Amino acid sequence: MDALVEIENLKAYYRAFLYGVDREVRAVDDISLTIGRGEIYGVAGESSSGKTTLIKTIAGAIRPPLRVVSGKVTFHFAGGTQDIYAMKPEQRMALRWLHLSYIMQGSMNVLNPVRRIRHSFTDFALRHMKLGRDQFFEKVATHLQRLKLDPHLLDAYPHELSGGMRQRMTIALATILTPEFIIADEPTTALDVIVQRDVLSMIREIQHEMGSSFLFVTHDMGVHATVSDRIGIIYAGRLVEEAPTRKLFDMPLHPYTQHLVASLPRIGDVQTRPSLEGRPPSLATPPEGCRFHPRCPKRMDICMQKVPPLITVEPGRRVACFAVTGDQV
Ligand SMILES: Nc1ncnc2c1ncn2[C@@H]1O[C@H](COP(=O)(O)OP(=O)(O)O)[C@@H](O)[C@H]1O
Ligand code: SF4
Ligand SMILES: [Mg+2]
Repeated sequence: MDALVEIENLKAYYRAFLYGVDREVRAVDDISLTIGRGEIYGVAGESSSGKTTLIKTIAGAIRPPLRVVSGKVTFHFAGGTQDIYAMKPEQRMALRWLHLSYIMQGSMNVLNPVRRIRHSFTDFALRHMKLGRDQFFEKVATHLQRLKLDPHLLDAYPHELSGGMRQRMTIALATILTPEFIIADEPTTALDVIVQRDVLSMIREIQHEMGSSFLFVTHDMGVHATVSDRIGIIYAGRLVEEAPTRKLFDMPLHPYTQHLVASLPRIGDVQTRPSLEGRPPSLATPPEGCRFHPRCPKRMDICMQKVPPLITVEPGRRVACFAVTGDQV
């Protein structure tokens, strides 16, 4: 695989006062993964598992109480190599928009609500394009058309657009500079299913036409099935399984992934899907050993004592579970 982004042993913790005690919330706890050029890498996992923290850390968008405890994030943009935590903050900022674009959760707010959409494009992109205004707007119009958006919408105010249209405009804004790497955090979560489909096909098209890589985060496995090439499953701040999408759905190996796949609604389903006992653990006081053990139907003694390492079980496929890899690791 031609790597665009390499994440090695990344740990990012929040400092928090909980019940009067100074604690560390271990939201990203030793995650390593690689994103290939031109692929859509999906990150899945239930709410509070650390997905947003992971991508903030990858994007270099961290501020207290969050801090990077250890690990490395390397980009290979424009034929070079950039170690983002070895860079000065200004250099890191310079990567934003040009090479890396980050569509944040609830990011429809990036469109300035009191100004016509056209101004959001000028504010974010004009200075990077080194073009005169007319040429710039020609380029914007071509980009919008390519994404099947009417350029006349530039004269609208954000509130005049439907939620789905606003989200598509946000994605058009985030991709106007053809960044190599686009991070999207739950970009379809607030949308209804039909509009979701439009936004997902737009993301697919961008990936296809511009060759950008995506890091696509959503808790919704149905969305991952549609859009992601590969999926990493996060549980309580750790990567527990990673596989190409098809394989992950056909034969999930980790008991938590098995639960996520089994709980997907299917057409014609009349029964409710099985639910998992218990709740995800607090990341300030996670369980010893495998963090999933209090909820795991396959739990063994070792699971309470040792952390299962993430093992490559076949090319392109990793899993952290003693029931799969055996306990001799
Ligand atoms: N500012 C903060 N201070 C302390 N803990 C936080 C803060 N923001 C998030 N967390 C905690 O970090 C964990 C991971 O959160 P998050 O990354 O938002 O998960 P997800 O995106 O998967 O829902 C959660 O336990 C959350 O409560
Ligand atoms: S390591 Fe043990 S507790 Fe963890 S998922 Fe595997 S079987 Fe379950
Ligand atoms: Mg989140």
